[in-house]
Amino acid sequence: MYDFFGKTAIITGSAQGIGKAIAKKFSECNCNLVLIDVNKEKLDLTVKELSHEKIKIKAYKVDITDESKLDIVVNDIKTQLPSIDILVNNAGVTRDALLLRMSEQDWDDVMNVNLKGTFLCTKKFAKIMIKQRSGKIINIASIIGQIGNAGQANYAASKAGIIAFTKSIAKELASRNINVNAVAPGFIKTEMTDRLPTEIVERYKAKIPLNRFGNPEDVAEIVLFLASEQANYITGETINADGGLVMR
Ligand SMILES: NC(=O)c1ccc[n+]([C@@H]2O[C@H](COP(=O)([O-])OP(=O)(O)OC[C@H]3O[C@@H](n4cnc5c(N)ncnc54)[C@H](O)[C@@H]3O)[C@@H](O)[C@H]2O)c1
Repeated sequence: MYDFFGKTAIITGSAQGIGKAIAKKFSECNCNLVLIDVNKEKLDLTVKELSHEKIKIKAYKVDITDESKLDIVVNDIKTQLPSIDILVNNAGVTRDALLLRMSEQDWDDVMNVNLKGTFLCTKKFAKIMIKQRSGKIINIASIIGQIGNAGQANYAASKAGIIAFTKSIAKELASRNINVNAVAPGFIKTEMTDRLPTEIVERYKAKIPLNRFGNPEDVAEIVLFLASEQANYITGETINADGGLVMR
């Protein structure tokens, strides 16, 4: 097990699903947590569940597309936590529709949360990491950003954007001892995928060599590895967590 005692991880979209599983694993490894989500009720439950005497947890009901609210978070945590060591850009949304039925709002919502939100959080929190001359940034992309998917043009474009963003920022921040990587999950059982029609779910499952859907913990394990010292020589990389669905 990793030991992150004394370190702090910021995780966006951590009230449920993959983000919550990531937060849980960090809490088990004694890492201080900054949890950001728009869902206050679930965020409060997560804080209760993950709290223990060895760590500090700060939780913020903040929309990651709201720059002024993110500034408040930055100022608050700078005074209350010794360092910001890990940022996990996990918050994401889907607004699925075939191209001709996809509204401008569907497009903008997905781009705003998945891509602009990732950009804003990275910009705000990387500033602290640059001063510290250390940090790990992990972005949650998706295999859909690599292979595309009918009905998800907005989502696929946003996740491909995250992979390209990851490589660019990795190049920018490498000289400051900051590693920037992405994890691209395949089909993971969460509320996001619970919304999909059964026939699509079954079609996907038949194509997964490991013959099962992933759990949020499967993704969380990779995030912890990328945040650890064992991954010090990895940057700009995207690791797929998809049971072999996409082999590049
Ligand atoms: N579940 C999958 O199969 C799968 C596959 C590939 C990639 N992903 C990616 O993993 C990430 C997490 O997915 P999940 O399945 O856990 O989804 P989820 O819907 O269960 O959880 C997403 C969380 O993000 C929060 N959120 C949404 N918009 C926000 C905003 N503007 N500001 C702050 N928080 C916001 C939600 O309230 C929610 O708690 C997403 O980026 C998603 O695209 C998921």
